[in-house]
Amino acid sequence: MSSRRPLLLLGIAGLAGALVSGPSLAVAAPGEPGSPRYSEGAAGTGDPYFPLAGNGGIDVLHYALDLDYTPPAAAPAPLEGRLDAVATIDLVATADLDRFNLDLRGLTATEVTVGGKPARFEQIENELVITPRPKLKAGASTQVVIAYGGPTTRPTDIEGALYGWVTTRDGAMVVSEPDGSPTWFPVNDHPTDKSSYSFEITVPEGLVAVANGLLTGSSTDGDRTTWSWDAPDPMAAYLATATVGNFVLDQYTAPNGTPIIDALDADRPASAYADLALTGEMLTFFESLYGPYPFNSYGAIVDDDSVGYALETQTRSFFSRNAREGTIAHELAHQWMGDHVSPERWADIWLNEGWATYSEWMWDEYRGRDTAAETFEAFMATPADDPEWDFVVADPTPLGLFAGPVYDRGAATLHALRVKIGDEAFFELASAWVERFGGGTASTQDFAELAEEVSGQNLDAFFDAWVYTPAKPTVW
Ligand code: TRP
Ligand code: ZN
Repeated sequence: MSSRRPLLLLGIAGLAGALVSGPSLAVAAPGEPGSPRYSEGAAGTGDPYFPLAGNGGIDVLHYALDLDYTPPAAAPAPLEGRLDAVATIDLVATADLDRFNLDLRGLTATEVTVGGKPARFEQIENELVITPRPKLKAGASTQVVIAYGGPTTRPTDIEGALYGWVTTRDGAMVVSEPDGSPTWFPVNDHPTDKSSYSFEITVPEGLVAVANGLLTGSSTDGDRTTWSWDAPDPMAAYLATATVGNFVLDQYTAPNGTPIIDALDADRPASAYADLALTGEMLTFFESLYGPYPFNSYGAIVDDDSVGYALETQTRSFFSRNAREGTIAHELAHQWMGDHVSPERWADIWLNEGWATYSEWMWDEYRGRDTAAETFEAFMATPADDPEWDFVVADPTPLGLFAGPVYDRGAATLHALRVKIGDEAFFELASAWVERFGGGTASTQDFAELAEEVSGQNLDAFFDAWVYTPAKPTVW
């Protein structure tokens, strides 16, 4: 993201110096003529649903998270753990910066360096405001090291659902959609800034810490064990995890060659994760629809506590208490649809949930249960005056991000599109979508444009009826 300051002012300021005034020059100019003017970055990326999530002026390349965690000492509520951490963040300035922000919520930063030099910082609500010296020029890369920590609790999202670093009796469930990452690390918390990650997580011996990607080692020193994980594939912050519990790791290679690492809670019966045996066959099935599995590994985490939902944490889907077949298919399909191709804005969430739900419909058909067409017909039996139809799929509002229609009408939209453009164009669209936008983000408009490009049809009326109008669609 670049500074919105008019370029013209650069020249004027250089000549006139202190004589130039006005709000756009409130951030003081460096003394010399021709030297860059610096901005404050921005406290958010401008996502209308979460205006302060993410930040302007920076592009994070890599987060190396060194987390030292101790779960609650005793069971009685409130559950409170202790996190002491160092985040080493490689980033590039995308504007001339004399200040920039990261998001951090409920934890205290104690020391910050930028490029090896101590930096001033302050925490204002959920923003960590850092003043680098020397200042950062646009295009410069630097390393920011932040020591931070504090007690951990059980945070909730705007709907009241548990998310973020959710303290449990024997560890933590870490699932951060949509804006929960700042509850456990300082972060540019928006999907438009994807980064690679590495983790060093130290926990009491006997517990297992499970993050994204591949396990690169574990070592025990005294009564603490450090678990190291490497996640080199670009990842949106909400998909990062560092879940801690009484897990048994089950490692194998899927038929498509993907290394699988499942983390299964020793306190759950085998029936809670029996359906995970279908993972390999599902990988092969979804590769046939969407193209090669995009990441270095996969696997599931099944915890004995619950956040009330499952999450498609990248390469390592999280399940509350039980991993059931439909949910396993849903979270696996998200790896392509949501994780590899992520929403440009949170309003585009139906592209995640619609595809993941439609993937469940197609998996059901593949397994000989209802066909996708039958599931679609059943959904369309909902009468036109049902309040379910009074919903704008492509603008669900922040409180409607995970509402039913985002999932089922989102899936029905995809089936209706398939009927409209035909199987050949539809599956070409699915793989082209992943191919073109994989590793980044895309919007509803990007999707509609690609669908028109692949099918050669004008789809204005179609998308209008299905995702922009709060009424039951009658055309497809
Ligand atoms: N994205 C998750 C899924 O569908 C669901 C999810 C995330 C969710 N946060 C939530 C559902 C909060 C309900 C409430 O796989
Ligand atoms: Zn989902």
